[in-house]
Amino acid sequence: MLSLLLFLPLFGAIHSHADDAAALDVSEASFDCIREMTPVRGFYVANLGGDLDATLAAANAPEGAAYPPGSVVQLVPGEAMVKHSPGTSPATKDWEFFELDTSSEGTSIRKRGYADVVNRFGGNCLACHAQAKPEWDMICEQGHGCDPIPLTRDMIVLLQKTDPRCEDNPALSEAEIATLQALRQAAEAGAATAE
Ligand code: HEC
Repeated sequence: MLSLLLFLPLFGAIHSHADDAAALDVSEASFDCIREMTPVRGFYVANLGGDLDATLAAANAPEGAAYPPGSVVQLVPGEAMVKHSPGTSPATKDWEFFELDTSSEGTSIRKRGYADVVNRFGGNCLACHAQAKPEWDMICEQGHGCDPIPLTRDMIVLLQKTDPRCEDNPALSEAEIATLQALRQAAEAGAATAE
């Protein structure tokens, strides 16, 4: 009986999230080649509701702004944040976090959720992104107050250049290929210790 009482409120919370996710309808088809999104200072944005201008206005606001519902933000092909309608998830400012698997076949969603999504390196998305000063709406970039990620700018650009979903990936130098191999090994090691 006690376990039932504990379970019911939890079920209610999960249920309302599912409803809201359905309202925006985020699925594997919502994600594609990262470089077909719109670049902003090294990361990429899109808007699933078609209001790209509103997303760009938030991304380019000099003092920061709340991103509008439907906004998709990605730095690397394997991770994304999607903004849901107001009230969906106050703890994450209505952002849903995604970990994606990408291949030439397309995208599959490895993990999605609000407060409890953990990335390949064992880090909780919200724990870092919540460190961004309030005016930046959980967007970390550089200097917004988040703990750093273990990727250099060169590595980030390389991951963007090699998104397997893109049809026009540029040829890589030998140094880039070596960097990419080191990155894959680090990600695999991270995934193994995060299990
Ligand atoms: C260790 C802290 C940390 C963790 C854990 C983390 N991030 Fe980030 N994330 C950052 C930082 C810092 C940046 C900015 C990096 C840069 O621009 O050089 C960033 C950038 C991003 C961006 C681009 C927009 C922005 O905020 O700059 C997205 C989208 C993103 N992360 C999603 C995720 C998702 C999804 C997860 C979990 C699966 C996750 N992150 C886990 C720290 C983290």
